[in-house]
Amino acid sequence: MENLAIEITNLTVKFNHFVALENINLSIPKGKFIAILGPNGSGKSTLLRTILGVITPTDGNITIFGTKNSNIKPEMIGYVPQMKTLDKFFPAIGLELVLSGIVHKWSKKPKLEDKNKVMEIIEQLGATSFVNKPLTQLSGGQLQRLYLARALVHKPQIILLDEPATGVDFVCETNLNLIINSYSTLHSTTVLMVTHDWTSAYHHTEDIILLNKDLVFYGDKNEAFSDENLKHTFSHYGDKHNVTFNLHQNV
Ligand SMILES: Nc1ncnc2c1ncn2[C@@H]1O[C@H](COP(=O)(O)OP(=O)(O)OP(=O)(O)O)[C@@H](O)[C@H]1O
Ligand SMILES: [Mg+2]
Repeated sequence: MENLAIEITNLTVKFNHFVALENINLSIPKGKFIAILGPNGSGKSTLLRTILGVITPTDGNITIFGTKNSNIKPEMIGYVPQMKTLDKFFPAIGLELVLSGIVHKWSKKPKLEDKNKVMEIIEQLGATSFVNKPLTQLSGGQLQRLYLARALVHKPQIILLDEPATGVDFVCETNLNLIINSYSTLHSTTVLMVTHDWTSAYHHTEDIILLNKDLVFYGDKNEAFSDENLKHTFSHYGDKHNVTFNLHQNV
């Protein structure tokens, strides 16, 4: 189907004998902004990394616009990983971090064409004022914007964001979500964003994926947050928790 961005069929991922994801089936249309929610260890990062192709599934298939994910051009996907492992004391400025998204190495003398691409995205993300600062002098939120710029600079058709707002204040988180949202609308980009912030997921995304090793729910955000879905998502396998989620009072 032409409008299908990501198709996941019977996906199981095991690490040795440990099952991280079990029999996931998902058809994700082009242009959707989707939040992925689930408890710690429920396989959210594993799902993104498997879509990206850095984890090979134990079973099942993933296609991106009809092509097996291991055969697509890397530029098609922009990825912001969960752990920002960059050593903040690395002697570089913001511009060089973003540039590494297209030249794949640190470059002190970029080509003008590449620099222009970088400056265009930096402007769109409102990061111009700190792009020439050393990374050591940037706040968490500013660094986060530059990571997002780095993921967007090659104009990917799919964006995978693993907790992009962690450590970022409410205003900055809202800004990031608005930026991602308007970028997605402008370019019909499909966005999968892992978050622990239900309120933000509810307000800024269209559809919700609830994950707890298996797929608990995928669909419209207005149907996602039923008590039954949330109990199934946030209860540990085999445990019986008498938890009530009053989410509708929070959003
Ligand atoms: N490379 C690996 N080798 C072995 N086990 C792994 C590996 N990567 C992940 N796991 C395990 O798979 C499970 C799912 O991990 P994953 O990182 O996908 O969870 P998550 O939902 O992203 O959690 P969090 O909310 O804490 O980020 C965890 O139990 C984790 O320990
Ligand atoms: Mg994770």
